[in-house]
Amino acid sequence: MTAALGELRSRFSGVRQGEVASYIPELRRADPDAFGLALVSMDGHPYSVGEARTPFTVQSVSKPFVYALALAELGLDEVSAWVNAEPSGEAFNAISLERGTGRPANAMVNAGALVASSLVPDTPEHPRFDRILAFLSRFAGRPLDVDEAVYRSESVTGDRNRALAYLIRSAGRLPVDPVTATQTYFRQCAVRVNAVDLAVMAATLAHGGENPVTGDRVVSEEVAAQVLAVMATCGMYDASGEWLLRVGLPAKSGVSGGLIAAGPARFGLASYSPPLDAAGTSVRGRAAFAALSQRLGLHLMLNPALPGSTVTLVTTGEDPLPGGGPVAGETGKVAVVAAQGALDFTAAERVLHGLDEAASGGAPSVVLDLARVDGIEPVAYAMLRQGLARLERAGHHVALADPAGRLAAPPGGGRPRDGGPPRFATRAEAAARCAREGGR
Ligand code: DON
Repeated sequence: MTAALGELRSRFSGVRQGEVASYIPELRRADPDAFGLALVSMDGHPYSVGEARTPFTVQSVSKPFVYALALAELGLDEVSAWVNAEPSGEAFNAISLERGTGRPANAMVNAGALVASSLVPDTPEHPRFDRILAFLSRFAGRPLDVDEAVYRSESVTGDRNRALAYLIRSAGRLPVDPVTATQTYFRQCAVRVNAVDLAVMAATLAHGGENPVTGDRVVSEEVAAQVLAVMATCGMYDASGEWLLRVGLPAKSGVSGGLIAAGPARFGLASYSPPLDAAGTSVRGRAAFAALSQRLGLHLMLNPALPGSTVTLVTTGEDPLPGGGPVAGETGKVAVVAAQGALDFTAAERVLHGLDEAASGGAPSVVLDLARVDGIEPVAYAMLRQGLARLERAGHHVALADPAGRLAAPPGGGRPRDGGPPRFATRAEAAARCAREGGR
């Protein structure tokens, strides 16, 4: 991975297009040649090259994480009443407000980000910004701080954001006064990070809300998925459609030159390179992410990475029974379906298809062998229990080889379904039982 990142860095470090942001005067001081790349795997392994530990301010890359905090505190329905989730097709600082209501288009553009950060609760013991800083720090897995010079610089010059805040407030869509809203938002944008921090933050979203380095569950799987969805459709402003088409990853850019992308259940990726294109995206970061996505086949729509074969054996009643035991070699009575690996929706569909195939051969009895299954998701549990019940209702004798009790109770707790087919430790025992029942 380090070598792959290194190759990307050498390939694109000579790119000279783009301008360092200067509308926040303090950002002008950034080194236009700095170029760092970092990737964090789902096991929390960090890889990085170049200026990946150079500090810079998070700017708009804070937006998805503060949106996550609002979602975690208030829930999607309440947050959506204040800020929508529609791509604006406009620049990050546009007046992207819904006609008639004044509700911001989404939480990735400035208008929506001002609202999302104003939705974060504020109490004397836990002031709003302290909550935001603590939350960003948990995503990064280390205590972050504020670059006060950048904060002051944006406070002095940020009239456009102030104007946006007043406009939203006048439409009744800002829960706090505009001065408070912009102060909190400017401070959130001035939080200091480096590319490795950003890769850990992106990896936390990709890892279903649990920081893969620290093991801290920062947000629920549901909130992580909601944030990634809005990043995918809105994270790159008016370049979001093109980005999803070509790079195919939920992403967020920032004007200081930071860029993140998340490969759900795969990795968190980040870069730092200050020169920006017209949409406010790091030019080298964009090129590197696009090349990496293409080279490693990371486009979201290339999913799912189909797991290997789930069903390892389907016999009908006409086949000799494999697996030994009292009825080994007999025919005409017991059909067998054997599965392996982790069972999710896709795998459960394959098993059900196998069961139908086996049962349609005319055998009165069917054995489902789960001995080599090493995990089962709740959806697969429900599908298999329903499928087996249907077979029983159709008059088949069904038995399970299920030494680990995968179908005994729902995975992750919950009440076991009543009844269900008898379970045995081995295929031979299950087949023997079926053969006896079938012979009656
Ligand atoms: O509100 C602003 O203008 C900045 N604090 C953040 C904008 C930003 O990062 C846009 N992203 N590309």
